[in-house]
Amino acid sequence: MKSKILVLLGVSLFVAACSSSNSEPKKKGGWKPEMDQPSELASIMRVLHDEATERKGTLEAGEMAVANSQLIFKMITAKPTEPHMVGPAFEPHAQAFIASYGQLNTAEDVQGQIEAHNNLVKSCVACHMNFCQGPIPRIEKLYVQ
Ligand code: HEC
Repeated sequence: MKSKILVLLGVSLFVAACSSSNSEPKKKGGWKPEMDQPSELASIMRVLHDEATERKGTLEAGEMAVANSQLIFKMITAKPTEPHMVGPAFEPHAQAFIASYGQLNTAEDVQGQIEAHNNLVKSCVACHMNFCQGPIPRIEKLYVQ
């Protein structure tokens, strides 16, 4: 646990909180960023986050969830807000994520889907540790206990 916190601290020193793109100091030159215009990748993330929130509710109610998002395949080529938000390790993380996502559909019962869901959330967090720490506390709320 301690080492996890150290890693988080270390990483966040050189990557500004990823969620703070809206609150960056205004750049010179009068150009004012649109307040709520997410990048292609950020929009995909929002949908995936909503979908996972909904799935958590379904599973906690003891029902099977449907997982048929096509957006997950767009993640790899989608444009991020800033180029540094993705890098060489991004695609392997995205592939691992897609593989976890597939396990939601091979699960045969609610318990199996809960395990698959929690593994999926782990792969969200794993990628975010590298590329976008800001939303991690929100993502961790998606675990089904
Ligand atoms: C392969 C890497 C990767 C995976 C896997 C991943 N993310 Fe992201 N996520 C990112 C990056 C990079 C951004 C920043 C996107 C941007 O600002 O353009 C982001 C942004 C976000 C945001 C902020 C979006 C916004 O409003 O600006 C949320 C919330 C989020 N991700 C949740 C999730 C959840 C939930 C999952 C799993 C279901 C997930 N992410 C899986 C890389 C990933």
